[in-house]
Amino acid sequence: MASSRATGRQRTPLSDSESSARHKQAAATAAAELIEDGMRVGLGTGSTVAFLLPAIAARKCKGLLCVATSPATEQAALALGLSVRSLDELGELDIAIDGADQIDPQGWLIKGGGGAHTREKIVAAAARRFVVIASEEKAVSELTAPVPLELLSFGAARTLLALSPASLRAVPASPDGGLIADYEGPIEDPGALAARLSATPGVIDHGLFVPGLTSTIMIAGEQGLEVRAGAKPSI
Ligand code: 5RP
Repeated sequence: MASSRATGRQRTPLSDSESSARHKQAAATAAAELIEDGMRVGLGTGSTVAFLLPAIAARKCKGLLCVATSPATEQAALALGLSVRSLDELGELDIAIDGADQIDPQGWLIKGGGGAHTREKIVAAAARRFVVIASEEKAVSELTAPVPLELLSFGAARTLLALSPASLRAVPASPDGGLIADYEGPIEDPGALAARLSATPGVIDHGLFVPGLTSTIMIAGEQGLEVRAGAKPSI
């Protein structure tokens, strides 16, 4: 369904990117409602999370301690007055909230469009509840390449050959020094591909997130907010 915005007495169609931004904001605002006083919160990376940070700050929860998955998120969170600590300082997190590039009907995710998937996966796994927020175009019937990779720089050409078709992305190294690349072949069975990528020497981590990592998926679109239960219990 086409969306529109009122301008005086006329309605002008919203562009796809305007609609997408509005939906990202809606999902982020809904997820921010889950934040309570004293929580230890993992913050993802990306344009959806950029809407989440002010929504969390606006809740003015007391004693909130956050872990950021990227320098960009850390800077934005600090600028909003949120307290940011290292993951090792906080240990287990009450909740982590992050975006996704693709979400399939079984709850498999592709993440890492921003190259932060290694830190994002560690933070998701450290959280008792991991919440994914997305605009509706991220929900797909089946996952398709690219699958983001983070590679050790040593022997990266050999690693890429072993993962062929795969190529380096023209972006800076991760804050942990890893090279950002993409697997560009078929996916077919995400579990089998995840096992293959994890077993390839030189792969630090990949952007396939197993359904068992995710507790809740919030997808906002023209029809409102869809909340899907993930395979990880929301405790
Ligand atoms: C960054 C990520 C992001 O969550 C993913 O790329 C979605 O980004 P956006 O919210 O900008 O659409 O995994 O590494």
